[in-house]
Amino acid sequence: MEILRLILLFVHLIGFAALFGGAFTQIKGPRRVVNPAMWHGALTMLATGLLLVAVREMGDMGVNHIKIGIKLVVMIAVFCLVLFSRKKSELPAGLFFGILGLTAVNAAIAVFV
Ligand code: HEM
Repeated sequence: MEILRLILLFVHLIGFAALFGGAFTQIKGPRRVVNPAMWHGALTMLATGLLLVAVREMGDMGVNHIKIGIKLVVMIAVFCLVLFSRKKSELPAGLFFGILGLTAVNAAIAVFV
């Protein structure tokens, strides 16, 4: 169970790198899109996050439900924004920075809460 948790956590962090990095490289613009790194990163974050909760529950490791609940709500928002704008040829600045900002907020919650 512990090795599974560690593998999932590792993939969770790779997903974060893809989602955040995929957006970060476009900060200067001029044309910003949802690239494959962001889309696959968002999918990875949601899937590994939920699996991590399941593994922790099964292994009696305890889960901070308030922290995970907030992360899940923020993640669903990010996921929907990425999903529904992934076919757009260009993202408005507000939408792009919304995705980047909410992803950073979730990383901050993971670390500080
Ligand atoms: C963009 C979204 C997300 C980011 C940036 C993020 C970031 C992180 C980071 C940096 C960690 C390692 C630090 C720590 O242990 O707290 C972590 C762990 C964790 N995340 Fe996420 N996360 C995201 C989404 C989610 C979602 C949606 C869930 C579940 C619904 C989730 C569940 C977890 C769990 C359970 C751990 C603890 C793993 C362990 O140490 O056993 N995460 N996350």
